[in-house]
Amino acid sequence: MDNTTHERLLIVDFGSQVTQLIARRLRELNVYCEIHPYQNVTDAFLADFAPKAIIFSGGPDSVTRDGSPRPPQSAYTLGVPILGICYGQQVMMQDLGGEVHGGKISGGGGTAEFGRAFVTPQGELSLLSGWFADEKEQVWMSHGDHVAKLAPGFEVYGTSPNAPYAITGDTARNFYAVQFHPEVHHTPNGAKLYENFVRLAGFSGDWTMGAYREQAIAAIRAQVGDKKVICGLSGGVDSSVAAVLIHEAIGDQLTCVFVDHGLLRQGEAEEVVTMFRDHYNMPLIHADEQELFLGELDGQSDPETKRKIIGRLFIDVFQKYANEIEGAEFLAQGTLYPDVIESVSFSGGPSVTIKSHHNVGGLPEKMGLKLVEPLRELFKDEVRALGTELGLPASFIGRHPFPGPGLAIRCPGEITREKLDILRKADAVYIDQIRKHGLYDDIWQAFVAILPVRTVGVMGDGRTYDFACALRAVTSVDGMTADYYPFSHEFLGETATRIINEVQGINRVTYDITSKPPGTIEWE
Ligand code: XMP
Repeated sequence: MDNTTHERLLIVDFGSQVTQLIARRLRELNVYCEIHPYQNVTDAFLADFAPKAIIFSGGPDSVTRDGSPRPPQSAYTLGVPILGICYGQQVMMQDLGGEVHGGKISGGGGTAEFGRAFVTPQGELSLLSGWFADEKEQVWMSHGDHVAKLAPGFEVYGTSPNAPYAITGDTARNFYAVQFHPEVHHTPNGAKLYENFVRLAGFSGDWTMGAYREQAIAAIRAQVGDKKVICGLSGGVDSSVAAVLIHEAIGDQLTCVFVDHGLLRQGEAEEVVTMFRDHYNMPLIHADEQELFLGELDGQSDPETKRKIIGRLFIDVFQKYANEIEGAEFLAQGTLYPDVIESVSFSGGPSVTIKSHHNVGGLPEKMGLKLVEPLRELFKDEVRALGTELGLPASFIGRHPFPGPGLAIRCPGEITREKLDILRKADAVYIDQIRKHGLYDDIWQAFVAILPVRTVGVMGDGRTYDFACALRAVTSVDGMTADYYPFSHEFLGETATRIINEVQGINRVTYDITSKPPGTIEWE
């Protein structure tokens, strides 16, 4: 999508673990920015990108090493403000005529420093305005090397006990360089520094969801013309927002395919179909393929086998329905910015596959389709904001994530219709409890897993021999790591009682208190 209408800030990524957070802070200030790995930032790239300001991220390397990462030297002659963070500061000093020392070698009084530190200001600097109400500010340091001599033109504006050049600047050129990480949570007022930087750089804050919506609609129309688009709609936030946006752009040229594999939650299929077909009046194919999926899953209990079967059938089914839409040339996907960012990998090793995630990857090439990905510049919370802007109800926007393979991966062991029915009912009671207690929005994801084990119980005066289930609820920021949600004992007790009383087939309820790692969020 073409974003040249926005003022753009370029983040040159030197491989810091927290580069994405810089982008978050800037987007919160309504500034459009893109992260690009330093290897891709050439002179030609810079001229083409035409940033209004540049930020150099932190990174794990040492500028004292030959061949360490650098920006192109033309960055310094573009005439735009530059902010260097940690490794970015050291790069600026080295490139502009200062000196950086490695490790714990002293020089200029600095040493390696990790964790909390306090910076004291020195002199007046507009970058710091509104900061230092208490004379010193908590910041987060994480550096082995340090600046030992400032580059010509730079002055010191803040020091910490181990970083005499904690805040430096060349106000004539609008170049600033700090040793700490203002983007992290542990630099509590760090957002202020970014706010001041973009103000100094003259950004007007033109990155709003209203503006994005208009521009995205124009871009979709330009890309698609009078051709047709198909979209796999799951009812999750990303595909829902993508579908509504594309529908607003091209109306009936969009057809959504909702695949019901029989592994959905209670009432889910009706909810999705009603919302999109009736409320939004979208052409929607409700592909009821429960028999196909459940038939092929019959007798299978290995988690990877189940995932592979579902992934393969999903693609077959999607393709079957897509073929019925004559003239479809595009496939819409709800790809987000975090999936797009090419992060710099210094280790470069292939990572281990924990689970084969289910998606429609590979489909566009196989079917000769071109992709429409209107969310590829957005973070998850921006997608939610766009959904609100487009009028999607809060109940859709705030939904917990639900995996493509659905209840199959919450049903360890063999999947039977009986177990799925029990699971759906127990899950509905559990989510109802969470909503009634006002906890839904505090939790990243909550669900019930039905265990492949029957246990003995006593109800009334009779013996029961029914399934046990596990409740799962986690907090997380991105699903990569997670912790279990600390429900009160009262809540857990009340929920267990309700499930056992209201759901025939379950006589024992447990609560899963595993974090991720070592567990994963789903059971399979
Ligand atoms: P795990 O279980 O790997 O899950 O800790 C992390 C997040 O990803 C979701 N998940 C999936 N989402 N297709 C999806 O669309 C999948 O195959 C899949 N497997 C797991 C999971 O629900 C959690 O939010």
